[in-house]
Amino acid sequence: MMNAMRAVPVRSGRGTAVVAYHAGSSQPACLPLRPGAGLVMVTDINAGAMVTWGRRRYGAYGMAGRRLRVVLGTGESYKGFLYLRLILRAMLRAGLGRDAVVLSLGGGVVGDVAGLAAACFMRGVSIVQHPTTLLACVDSSMGGKVGINTGAFKNAVGCIHPPRYMEAQMGRVAALPLRQWRAGLAEAAKIAAGLDRDFYCWLAIHAHDVARRAAPAIASMVTRCAELKSYVTALDDVEAGARACLNLGHTIGHAVESGMSYMHWLHGEAVSLGIVLMAKASHRLGLLPRADAAQIVRMLASLRLPVRLPLGVDAARLADALSADKKNRGESVCVVLLRGIGDCVALEVPRDAMLWAWGGAVHRLT
Ligand SMILES: NC(=O)c1ccc[n+]([C@@H]2O[C@H](COP(=O)([O-])OP(=O)(O)OC[C@H]3O[C@@H](n4cnc5c(N)ncnc54)[C@H](O)[C@@H]3O)[C@@H](O)[C@H]2O)c1
Repeated sequence: MMNAMRAVPVRSGRGTAVVAYHAGSSQPACLPLRPGAGLVMVTDINAGAMVTWGRRRYGAYGMAGRRLRVVLGTGESYKGFLYLRLILRAMLRAGLGRDAVVLSLGGGVVGDVAGLAAACFMRGVSIVQHPTTLLACVDSSMGGKVGINTGAFKNAVGCIHPPRYMEAQMGRVAALPLRQWRAGLAEAAKIAAGLDRDFYCWLAIHAHDVARRAAPAIASMVTRCAELKSYVTALDDVEAGARACLNLGHTIGHAVESGMSYMHWLHGEAVSLGIVLMAKASHRLGLLPRADAAQIVRMLASLRLPVRLPLGVDAARLADALSADKKNRGESVCVVLLRGIGDCVALEVPRDAMLWAWGGAVHRLT
């Protein structure tokens, strides 16, 4: 596995050419901008504090015409209608047009809501992603899924709007608080566990290095995540097949998050528990060897990620979430299960069988 950051082309089925520069490059992103095009930066108070909105830092956007900045607060509650509307109204009031570019600077929350604003504004303008959290670098800023939550319904409103350009500056990301860092590792572990056994083994061996943010290990991890995400999104533009594998652990993860009103666990932490439950359920359904399920739990635990149900979230509530998932059809539930490490599959499973498998898995975690 290479240990230097490099550019990774990220394709989507729409043929949109996206280039992810996972380099600590001092060069800012340079999406070719039409001279005079409007530019809106959407950021949050933490990520926004890192840049000066000036020609020197954003030289590549120096030819932009009207520029504005929307600064959100932090947390999942900013990924909602209110803030989507705020961004769109700011763009309209500033007189931006169809050539406007939305530039997201922040983590997955900012990226998702800014991306949806870009998708909606004048029926779609370009979005550029500058992820500043590890989670956003390894996952959310690529692939084009954008959206907002509505009440307890996580990501219920959204679409697929791939970025025109993405650049992660790892120097900034390395300054993340420890818990946020670990939450990002959960999405990297999800990609490895679901898609690539070799990468999974590499991650298990280098768990200590990525946890302590050793630069060569981080470079390899982020690059490999981008390559795998590119591979999947190129196969499946609209989440009709291969892309569903990226949802490993997410149905349960979302239920944990909303069960705690998005207040106690971070998204990546909830996904970690979701992966554990799906690994155990996969074993009970006869798909995944017990040793592989146990290895996945050990790896997540070694990254100091949650592998047990939190207090206050009861199993019945999570079972309801599994039954009510928007991807279900009739008496079947659609879930992403594991057939082996690095080999996941999206399946429709009879609801009763799934609840049985899953109920046993939950029972062992409480
Ligand atoms: N669109 C997708 O494909 C996709 C995939 C996975 C997750 N997501 C979404 O991503 C969101 C979670 O993203 P997240 O974990 O990045 O959370 P986040 O955007 O809330 O960021 C986490 C925290 O880190 C702060 N922060 C950002 N950059 C920082 C930096 N460099 N240094 C210090 N602090 C910094 C933020 O202000 C925030 O407080 C969830 O809403 C989830 O649903 C989307």
